[in-house]
Order: sequence, then C-alpha cells, then structure tokens
Amino acid sequence: MNEITPQHEQMSQFSQEDNQLLVGGFNLNAISQLLDKRVFYAYDRQIIQQQVARFRQHIPGRIKLHYAVKANPYWPVVQFLKPLVDGFDVASQQEMLLAMQSGMPVSDISFAGPGKGDAELLSAIVAGVTLNVESAGELARICKLSQVAGQKPQVALRVNPAFELKASGMKMAGGAKPFGIDEEQVLQLLPAIADMPVKLRGFHIYCGSQNLKAEALIDAYQHTFALAAKLVAACPYRPDMINLGGGFGIPYFTGERRLDLAPVGESLASLLQQYQAELADIELVIELGRYLVAEAGVYACQVLDKKVSRGTTYLVCNGGLHHHLANSGNFGQVIRKNYPVAIGNKLTAAEQELVTIVGPLCTPLDILADKKLLPKAEVGDWVVVYQSGAYGPTASPQQFLGHPEVVEVLL
Ligand SMILES: Cc1ncc(COP(=O)(O)O)c(C=O)c1O
Repeated sequence: MNEITPQHEQMSQFSQEDNQLLVGGFNLNAISQLLDKRVFYAYDRQIIQQQVARFRQHIPGRIKLHYAVKANPYWPVVQFLKPLVDGFDVASQQEMLLAMQSGMPVSDISFAGPGKGDAELLSAIVAGVTLNVESAGELARICKLSQVAGQKPQVALRVNPAFELKASGMKMAGGAKPFGIDEEQVLQLLPAIADMPVKLRGFHIYCGSQNLKAEALIDAYQHTFALAAKLVAACPYRPDMINLGGGFGIPYFTGERRLDLAPVGESLASLLQQYQAELADIELVIELGRYLVAEAGVYACQVLDKKVSRGTTYLVCNGGLHHHLANSGNFGQVIRKNYPVAIGNKLTAAEQELVTIVGPLCTPLDILADKKLLPKAEVGDWVVVYQSGAYGPTASPQQFLGHPEVVEVLL
C-alpha cells in the first residue's frame, strides 16, 4: 500500500518532445484544446497496431486473432481494429451491434457471457452471430428460441475445463465456475446435440485473463489442445471452429515483466503439428482484449489543488475513480498498487517530490497514485496514468457523485 515506487516510469511505447508526453504525436495541451476538455482518455493507434503486429509475428498464422470488445468498446477503436483482426468477441447486445456496425462478418462474431437474456439470444440467433453457450439451461432456451427465430442458431459450447490457467490475474476456468459447461457435462451432452435445432460450430475454452507468464500459458494451451481433440472426437459431426481462449497480460505494476510471446508461439506451433490430424480444417482462434489496447491508452487529468496534510503532499485532480476504477485498485486488485503515472507535461525534472495523487470524490478510495516520487507538479499540470487503454470508462462508475463523464479520443 505504501510502497515507494521509482520516480518516473518512462513508458517506452510513447514518444516525447520537449519533456512532454506525446500521444499519437500530440502533447496533452494540444489534445485538451482539440477536445475542449481537461480530463480525457487518449489512445494511440500506432501502439494498437504494434500489439497486433507482435501477435502476428509470434503466433502461427494458422491461429486467428479475435478482439474482445469489452476491453475497449470505444467506437473508433472498434472501427480501427476491424481490418486488423479476424473477428470480434462480444459480451452484450450493445457490443454485438457495435461489432456488426463495424462490418465484421457475423460468422466472425461470437457472443459470450453468463446470463444472456432471451432478447439478447434471439437477436444473436437472427443475426447469425455465434453464441458461446454457458450452460445446459441456456442451450435449452436457445433451442426454444430457434422456433421463434425460424433460423438455426449458430452455437459453440463454452467449456469449463478441469484444468486452470495458473498465475492469471483472473481465473475463468477449473473448479466450480459460473462460466461455461463443465468438461464432463459437455461430453455427456454432445451425443444429443445432433438432434437439437442448432448448428454446433465448435467450442470455446477460455481459462483466464491478465497472464504474464509464458510457461503458464504454454501449460494451459497443452491442456486446451488435448481437450479440444477429445471434444472434436466426441462430436456427432465435425465442428468448424475452436476458440482456444486468450489471457495474454500486460505489465501494470512495478517489477512486472512483459509477456514473452516467442516461447508461447513456438509451443503453439508444435501443438499444431502434434494435433494436425485431429484439428485439420478447424478454424482456431485466440481472443484477446487488453493485450491489444491497454498499453495504447493514457488517462490524463489536471491538478486542481495542491495541499499538505501532516507531512503528506496531495495533488488533487479533476479526474479519479469515477473515470478509472481499475487504477484506484477497486477492479479486482486485492492490495492496491500504483499504475505507472507521470507528470505528462514535465516528464523529467531536477526537482522531485513525494506525492499522493487523489481525485475529486469524497471517498478515501479515490486514489490515482499513492506515495510516488515525481517531478514537482503545480496546479494546472497534467497527471497521466499509463496502461489505461483497457477497462477504462466502461468499467468505471461514471455516475457516482454526478461529475462530468470522461471523453475519449483515438489519435
Ligand atoms: C470470455 C472472455 N474473453 C475475453 C476476455 C478478455 O480478457 P483480456 O482483456 O484480459 O484479454 C475476457 C475477460 O474477462 C473474457 O471473459
């Protein structure tokens, strides 16, 4: 909680000019003028493109890349990613409409998530979007709705495997989970699927999220391929698609290392060889959210007030938890750690100061950075939170206390 992290993490993905951070070639004052706002998220399209290129460089071309829209559903980001990826994964009807509006073919859109309502299911069936089925009950509802739709639903069974993705920030498989159908139940259910009014496209095996350990991903993919082969063999007819999951993480905190994709790619290449016969002609997909967009985004707000309370210097800003819940430590962190932050218009300075940066909300939870040594900042300076391109505005309680909503821009 009270760790003193190194003074300024120069995030190498961004360039700078005159000691100022540049996003898409613009400094923060220029972006502020462009938007006529003093608090915003800015995303750098070149960095998104680089992340996609990194994936393509290391992961065998046989494996398709889908973007999980939930990570950042900002429309220009979705539009920008459309030609760069091979499909979209969505988690609601609203996200599904975004994906369709982008022009992504419906056969390359999948819809996952427990607790889909009948209206959502029906709209996906009518649209021809693939439903990742999360339970036997949901499958029964889909079968019923197929009569209303007059159309065969395209489905993939989301499998909750017996194994887990070790060292993940969030685990979505292994043990009891609300996501997917337990592996052993899927095997029991498969013989009956031939008589159901659905087209079984394949399987969705998603184990977890935010993983920085290549060995853990390799281990999970070994299990995933073995399970996929077992499921394909048990299918009454040949499926055409298997979603192998994702979970590639990005470094958020001091001491975290960037995920090394090279060994993951090598291992996937040898698994493709090993399971060549079993998985021939089946489309294989990896679905990623934050890996593609998180590093491309910054959250920027301005210092409104500077005060000292019993020895602690506070920078009080016009932005905080209501715009960026994850940075406040309240979106899945057990112990709050600082995201990398900087003074965006004074990236380095001879004079440093230990500060705690807070937002405008009347709650001690509204912390932007706790006890950071940063270039000495004054009222009007820009506080920048890096690694903020995923799970930002849409994962934050923007209505809380009624402050203005944050704006976004893709540069
Ligand atoms: C099914 C599914 N796909 C993709 C994702 C995206 O995860 P990430 O942004 O960590 O890649 C999640 C995260 O919750 C998920 O549940």
